[in-house]
Amino acid sequence: MSESSSSLNSSERRSFLGKLTGMIAAAIAAFLGVVAGRFTLSPAFQKPDEEGSWQIVGPVEEIPEHVPTKQSIVVSQPAGWGRFNSQQLLWVVRDDSNLKVFSATCPHLGCTVNVAASGFVCPCHGSAWDANGQRVGGPALRGLDTLNTRIEDGILKVEYQHFKQGIATKEVVS
Ligand code: FES
Repeated sequence: MSESSSSLNSSERRSFLGKLTGMIAAAIAAFLGVVAGRFTLSPAFQKPDEEGSWQIVGPVEEIPEHVPTKQSIVVSQPAGWGRFNSQQLLWVVRDDSNLKVFSATCPHLGCTVNVAASGFVCPCHGSAWDANGQRVGGPALRGLDTLNTRIEDGILKVEYQHFKQGIATKEVVS
């Protein structure tokens, strides 16, 4: 009688330990699932950073007038689990009260546009633009891409965007 009782208790104990082990394993799996889900899915649900694409160029007063001035900025963009920084070039044209900022990325295939005697030129395939960024020749199908600007406390800021290349219209891609 006592052997049978002891055998039963041992069986019950094994059953209880088996269930306990299963519950602990399930709890660990659930915890790891939450952690993994948070890191893999959260970038997809993040709200865009409204201020993220506005970059400081510098004090307006320090930008020379009547000559295109090349400026570089560092653009930070979301990329999967983190952020990706890249240097981007701009041409700033300041004439009296008028200020324009062009992306230095050629709208043909993306080479860097240089300043020329009467405007801008791309060294890769010879596209050319006048001083206002209007296309005057070459394979590029549109003018230089202008960037949105704002001035806060005398500081010029640009909203940096990438545009689709090789087409006649200006289309934002990021
Ligand atoms: S990349 Fe500029 S003209 Fe082709």
